[in-house]
Amino acid sequence: MIPETTESDSVRIFDQIVRDRRSIRGFLSTPVAAEVLERVFETAAFAPSNCNTQPWYSHVVSGEMRDRLSGIFMQTIGQGKHSLDFPYEAKYDGIYRQRQLDVGLLLYKALGVTREDREGKRQAFLRNLEFFDAPHVVFIFMPEWCGIREACDVGMYAQTLMLAMRAHGIASCPQTILGYDADSVRRELGIGPDMKLLFGISFGYEDRSLPENRIIPDRATLDEHVKFYP
Ligand SMILES: Cc1cc2nc3c(=O)[nH]c(=O)nc-3n(C[C@H](O)[C@H](O)[C@H](O)COP(=O)(O)O)c2cc1C
Repeated sequence: MIPETTESDSVRIFDQIVRDRRSIRGFLSTPVAAEVLERVFETAAFAPSNCNTQPWYSHVVSGEMRDRLSGIFMQTIGQGKHSLDFPYEAKYDGIYRQRQLDVGLLLYKALGVTREDREGKRQAFLRNLEFFDAPHVVFIFMPEWCGIREACDVGMYAQTLMLAMRAHGIASCPQTILGYDADSVRRELGIGPDMKLLFGISFGYEDRSLPENRIIPDRATLDEHVKFYP
């Protein structure tokens, strides 16, 4: 039984893992050991889901297939050729637009990319398609029949996965952009049309020498996102 006190080791360690998980955009080539990989995916499956349906399917690529998909993405996504299972329709306004701009500025500043530097921005974008040099990528699918509620289940699974990785010292970056060529991912991995791609997560060991890995995006204050009722 875990004691419910803010001083307990479990609270301290959990808090640290959650806060230490950040989107990392530069990795070492060192692969993650197979047994560690299995362990984190096993742990992730303890995420909750509506009616325990567990509608998540992970496809982990490394080595040649990783390189192959990166090359394909450069020719498709990198050239503006998209095949998305779920259209990206969000038009951010107000505070949401501000947060989007803020995190973009933070990243560009770390990379030394100025506001006018279009080529620098394009290179920063293309790093996504190189998986930021990560040795592994997981593509996360759900069955075609799924809707927004099941997508929530998959989101919980993905966060559990990234936290499990973090606990093992593995860094990650969730990437919507890796869902922009779902047809190629399905074709290359032999996945049927009944499975739909939500996003990918690049992961591996962080390259601590890179300034882009030191950015810490702001978080809203407690009163901005929670209201407690008496
Ligand atoms: C579902 C999802 C998709 C994302 N897609 C991308 C992406 O395509 N490229 C990228 O560099 N970051 C992407 N991010 C990372 C966000 O920018 C990041 O989570 C946010 O700025 C907060 O920073 P943090 O993860 O370091 O706490 C994505 C995050 C999530 C949750």
